[in-house]
Amino acid sequence: MTVNPVVENFASTGKRGRMPGMQPVVVVQHPLAQCHLAAIRAVGTPSHEFRRHLNHLARLLFLEATRELPVREIDVQTPLKQTVGSQLARPLVCVPILRAGLGLLDGILPLVPDAVVAHVGIRRNEETALPHAYYANLPASLSNADVFLLDPMLATGGSACEAARQLKEAGAMRITMICVVSCPEGLAAMERAHPDVAIVTAAIDSGLNDKCYIVPGLGDAGDRYFGT
Ligand code: PRP
Ligand code: URA
Repeated sequence: MTVNPVVENFASTGKRGRMPGMQPVVVVQHPLAQCHLAAIRAVGTPSHEFRRHLNHLARLLFLEATRELPVREIDVQTPLKQTVGSQLARPLVCVPILRAGLGLLDGILPLVPDAVVAHVGIRRNEETALPHAYYANLPASLSNADVFLLDPMLATGGSACEAARQLKEAGAMRITMICVVSCPEGLAAMERAHPDVAIVTAAIDSGLNDKCYIVPGLGDAGDRYFGT
C-alpha cells in the first residue's frame, strides 16, 4: 500500500494537528471516506454515482468539521422523564462556492436542516486560473455564526481565498473550509491569506499540473457532478 507522505505527516500530527507554521488542517482518514474518495476519483464513475459518493463523503467530512461545535444544554421531556439534551449554541451557516460546492451541500443539509445557506459564485478563468467573483448572497451579519465554506477542490486556492475574504467582509469570525481534495499550493495560499480558517479535507494531493488542475485529483468537479 502506498501512502501519500504529506497525508501521512498530517495524520501523524493527530486528529486536529497543526503543522508548524500552518493553519489547522484535518485530513479525514476514515476508511469509508477514503473509499468514497476513490470512487469519485475514478474516471469511469458516471455522474449519478459521482453524486452519490460525493454526498456520502461530504457528510463524513462535515461530521469531522463540526466535531467541536459548542452546544448549550436544553431540557428534554422524554415519554418517561425529564432529561438534559443539546442544542447548537450558535447559528450554523453553510456557504457553497458555486457551482461545484452545491455538490457538498446536498450531503450536509439533511444533518442540519435548519442551517442558513448563503451563496458565493466564483469561477476560475480558464486561461489564467484566476478567480472571477460573479455572485454573492450573504446574510447581513455572520459575526455570531459558525460558517462552513464548501468546495470540493482547493487547487491554487484563489477561489477559496476570495470566498473567505467576502465572508470576513460580511463579519464572519469562525470559518471552516470543507474541501474533498486539496494540494500544497492551495493550502499554502490559504495559510498566507487566511491563517485562521480551519480546513477539513479527505486528501492532500501532490500538486498542480500546468493547467492548475490537481494531480491526481478527480478532474473538473463541477462538470463531473453536473454532467456538463
Ligand atoms: C473549481 C472548483 C473550485 C475552484 C478551485 O470551480 O470547484 O471552486 O475551481 O480552483 P482554485 O483553487 O484554483 O481557485 P470552477 O471555477 O471550475 O467553477 P465551477 O464550480 O462552476 O465548475
Ligand atoms: N477545479 C476543479 O474542478 N478541479 C481541479 O483539479 C482544479 C480546479
